[in-house]
Amino acid sequence: MKRKLRWSVFGAGSCAAVAVVVTLLLRPADQPVLAPISVPQAQDVEPETTTTTKPSMVSILLPSAPVEAPPSPPAPPPAPPEPRRPATTQQPAPPPVVSTDFQAENARIQYGQVDSNYPGFTGSGFVNYDNAVGGSVEWTVPASAAGSADVVFRFANGSGAARMLLISVNGVSVRHIAFPATNGWADWQTLTVHVDLVAGNNSIKAIATTRDGGPNVDKITLT
Ligand code: GCU
Ligand code: CA
Ligand code: CA
Repeated sequence: MKRKLRWSVFGAGSCAAVAVVVTLLLRPADQPVLAPISVPQAQDVEPETTTTTKPSMVSILLPSAPVEAPPSPPAPPPAPPEPRRPATTQQPAPPPVVSTDFQAENARIQYGQVDSNYPGFTGSGFVNYDNAVGGSVEWTVPASAAGSADVVFRFANGSGAARMLLISVNGVSVRHIAFPATNGWADWQTLTVHVDLVAGNNSIKAIATTRDGGPNVDKITLT
């Protein structure tokens, strides 16, 4: 029994030795016989760092009172107000009567002449009434329907005194109007007379009623 065991041990040891030799002989050429064994050396081990914190000098010198929070940045300025949009983009309603110019120099003239020797007139000139009673300028104004209208007279009066004109519409005297003095014959101003018109053609006539005659008249505008 002992012997058998001894052989077994010997046999096992022999087999092991044979296996080692075979392994060595069969290893690849570039493989070392023994793998290097890395043994950690004392100097390779980093010493444990202590995590105990001591109060630093700065913290000791700081006041122990709670530190106030930094002031919050100033609030941003309020947004500028939205630019106001126009209430509507629609065009304003047209006036009830479309403006229309009627030049005096194109009208029917009695006891007067067409001049252009003072600046500022429109069209091709203006009417210079004779210095006499009865001189007149008569316009023919068409209207699509009966109704009222404003007649705007453009005139100049450098005489230094008012000049009178009788306004007659369709043969009916409407108003006797004083045209005030203007700042010279080249200073043109306006004076408005409200009249009633009939459908179709209307006669608007301005008649001098004094021996001074009327002012110089450039045009009328119906509105
Ligand atoms: C001057 C002026 C005329 C005007 C006239 C008048 O002669 O030149 O334009 O009509 O005075 O007093 O009516
Ligand atoms: Ca005149
Ligand atoms: Ca004119």
